[in-house]
Amino acid sequence: MCGIVGFIGRKPAAPLLLEGLSKLEYRGYDSAGIALVGEKGIEIYKSKGRLQILRDKIQDGKDLPQTVGIGHTRWATHGKPSDENSHPHQSNDGNFAVVHNGIIENYAGLKKELQAEGFTFLSETDTEVVAHLLQKYYKGDFMLAVRQTVARLEGAYALGILCADFPNQIIAVRRASPLIVGLSQDANFIASDIPAVLSHTRRFLQLEDGEMARLTSGGVELFDADGRLVEKQELKVSWDVDSAEKGGYAHFMIKEIMEQPDVIRKTVSPRLKDGKVVLDGVKLTEEQLRKLKKLYIVACGSAYHVGMVGKYVIEKMTRIPVEVDLSSEFRYRDPIVDKDSLVVIISQSGETADTLEALKNAKAKGARILSIVNVVGSSIARESEDVLYTWAGPEICVATTKAYSTQLAMMYILAAYIAQTLQTVPQAQLDAFLDDLLRLPEQIAEVLKLAPKLQQMAQRYAYLEHAYYIGRNVDYAVSLEASLKLKEISYIHSEAYAAGELKHGPISLIEDGTFVVGLACCERLAEKMLSNVKEVKARGAEVLVVTNDHVKVHADEADHILLVPYTNEMMSGSLEVVVMQMLAYYIALARKCDIDKPRNLAKSVTVE
Ligand code: F6R
Repeated sequence: MCGIVGFIGRKPAAPLLLEGLSKLEYRGYDSAGIALVGEKGIEIYKSKGRLQILRDKIQDGKDLPQTVGIGHTRWATHGKPSDENSHPHQSNDGNFAVVHNGIIENYAGLKKELQAEGFTFLSETDTEVVAHLLQKYYKGDFMLAVRQTVARLEGAYALGILCADFPNQIIAVRRASPLIVGLSQDANFIASDIPAVLSHTRRFLQLEDGEMARLTSGGVELFDADGRLVEKQELKVSWDVDSAEKGGYAHFMIKEIMEQPDVIRKTVSPRLKDGKVVLDGVKLTEEQLRKLKKLYIVACGSAYHVGMVGKYVIEKMTRIPVEVDLSSEFRYRDPIVDKDSLVVIISQSGETADTLEALKNAKAKGARILSIVNVVGSSIARESEDVLYTWAGPEICVATTKAYSTQLAMMYILAAYIAQTLQTVPQAQLDAFLDDLLRLPEQIAEVLKLAPKLQQMAQRYAYLEHAYYIGRNVDYAVSLEASLKLKEISYIHSEAYAAGELKHGPISLIEDGTFVVGLACCERLAEKMLSNVKEVKARGAEVLVVTNDHVKVHADEADHILLVPYTNEMMSGSLEVVVMQMLAYYIALARKCDIDKPRNLAKSVTVE
């Protein structure tokens, strides 16, 4: 996730900006840069790669005397990691420098407009439009130019802006991306996250959506979107740096679980325009889709579990058969793919060795590759003809949560896109599906309110030896992920079974007190699912059922019943999985496990 820091005071800014950026390194980044403003105008230093490369380039900033500057660590979204795409970006006349966190959704249209007016673009980023818009609107009033510029922007942004004509000011503005202002006696700061400046101050102002801050070395003024002064209570922070990095949460895992409504909104909303799915940059044609006889989804671990949900959803929406494969199996089984096959690769890191090899294998046979990836410029993204990015931001906890959820959202988007192109479902059904998709973030926010209840339940299950998860259709696919979540972070043995398979073997494992989770959101199959629940309960199991209010579960049919909001059966997994992530998290917490770094696991599996 991009990180922003800004400093205005009496000391040289560059060393302080570098220090602030180093505190934001934990968020993940691929390039870094700073801009300084002084009597001679704006100077920019930036480079791709680790912050140390930038430090070496400017000798830790010790010969740079300017006392006002902004800095940035970039996590690539639009455009690969490169020196040119690194922030800060400058207006053509050199009068403005901008750092940005977020995504400008309407940047393509703005870029066209600015190019037609003669502006030259030096990067592939969405951010550069902001610098040129500032130049376009500037008539001597810095604040007004910023206000007119942000009025043109759609999407999410936190911006730090310098203007050479106002060398004693920084203007910051935000919408839907975090930004705080730090206050101290002889300096003021902006930052996307408190840890960046926590060694200098514990006094903060939190900017709300649409608010703007004007910083000078002597003070800070806040304005609302209409330019009216805003008074605000200071926030006094007593956290240490470690908990500040986690936004006050005990672990990155729970922080990332809580970020899910936000990242799903970021993944979905730019792809739904005027009631239609729009996949910018995807070159797959209608003709190619019409020729498809089969679609393959290839991935590892949780990403493979996403593919299992994808199979149900894509087949239902498009009637194209879908085969889901583990990358490590696919690459060695001489798969039957050719130029009329579409292979969908799913990977958070974009670097998983087996998945990358599976991709190359399918590509060598002529298959078309569409990947769903979180890391821009990663190996899998570079090898693919089409890439759909999940805008989950960097995931730091080894066990995936928010990346999994955004991958699921991409499955719905892809299914709807194919259905829309091939007209495989009636328009009203497609419209309802897209409405449900837009509602997911708020429904997930509702599910997150179950956290205290799950924490309480987790005390009871902390010392389990085994757990079993059952479900049918999408609920079964989500059971696989629920089970993996529990076992990887709590080290409790767990398995997931298609509920209809119980009688074919696994039911022999059930005895008094065996913990079974039944996922039962699929209304159509509820009766069958609940009879499986009764079967295990009759054999002594302690059962937790996760369902919605369209399914009637009697109090005596389960030991615990948790309700999630109702949505169509294809998307209900997005709600169930959040309950399951929290249950696993709180059980692991009660067992005092090393949650963010479970034993023997790595975040990115770059070896076979
Ligand atoms: C489990 C988990 C892993 C990954 C798998 C694939 O919580 O994170 O199972 O899903 O290693 O990784 P990516 O998505 O980076 O290819």
